[in-house]
Amino acid sequence: MRSFSGRDILSLKGFERHEFFRVFEAAEKLEPIARNRHNSDLLKHKSLVTAFYQPSTRTRLAHEAAMLRLGGGVTGFSDAKMTRAGDFYQESIKDTVKMLEFYGDVIVMRHFEQGAPHEAAKWASVPIINGGDGWGEHPTQILTDLYTVYREKGRIDGLKWLAVGDMRMRTMHSLAYGLTQFDCPITFCAPPEITLTDEFKAEISGYSLDWTEVGHVEEAIADADVILVEPVVQPDYTKSRDERDGDVGLTPANYKITRELLETRAKSDAILLHSLPRMDEIPTDVDITRWSRYWQEAFNGVVMRMALLALVLGKME
Ligand code: CP
Repeated sequence: MRSFSGRDILSLKGFERHEFFRVFEAAEKLEPIARNRHNSDLLKHKSLVTAFYQPSTRTRLAHEAAMLRLGGGVTGFSDAKMTRAGDFYQESIKDTVKMLEFYGDVIVMRHFEQGAPHEAAKWASVPIINGGDGWGEHPTQILTDLYTVYREKGRIDGLKWLAVGDMRMRTMHSLAYGLTQFDCPITFCAPPEITLTDEFKAEISGYSLDWTEVGHVEEAIADADVILVEPVVQPDYTKSRDERDGDVGLTPANYKITRELLETRAKSDAILLHSLPRMDEIPTDVDITRWSRYWQEAFNGVVMRMALLALVLGKME
């Protein structure tokens, strides 16, 4: 097995099946630290640098919380406008990470340009974790989601997935790559103008992924064991910041998971994931139903980042 020590986590493409289980195993071991809110000293002498060129609530703070739970330190920026990358100089990724690598032992980067964390990894002598790059990928979020399914269902193989939302979304790409390593048929449901690109469909068809598409969630929800939702009313992820400008519209019924739909059509033991933030695609009255698991996802988001930090920093093998 390839070692995780010193490794960049940039993509789930090429992430091997046994590596998912290795990460899940590490997460299960570390989970009591987060559950008991009792910090450990596993990463006592290590520091995390957060380099966020795009807004984030969960990804940045979950990585920071994970590092603090493991006894390490944290520094970084949450808005590139406060750095030389966001002012007159427009400092390059190379020059920036050639500094950041001296400020910590691992860097988590979110960027509006697809491939920016990969560029950072070319220059950094410390591991780079991709916290979301443009429309590219969001590997740590999907590792969190797969771990949530694993914990909730006790397995990954054999479960049918329904993925609803904007298929340009980075989570959707990481999800498709991730599921190539499992026996999990997946149905994608998205508005035609923001569905998977032909190029991406051709790519995933090259793997053994059993995938299909529908135009309305009603066509697929009854079969689904795992329903993963992202907004279709979305900002532009290729911008450093996309402010809301007036009325942004509502989610069409085709891509909305309502309580009534779940109660009348979904399997009683299906689970509903949403990495958040949400718009109106999952109304808040779904939160207290038997299907919702997004708060468990939030907790697991910290646990998964603890596992990844411990693995890439060589403190777990
Ligand atoms: N799910 C997710 O990536 O959330 P943030 O944008 O808040 O990090």
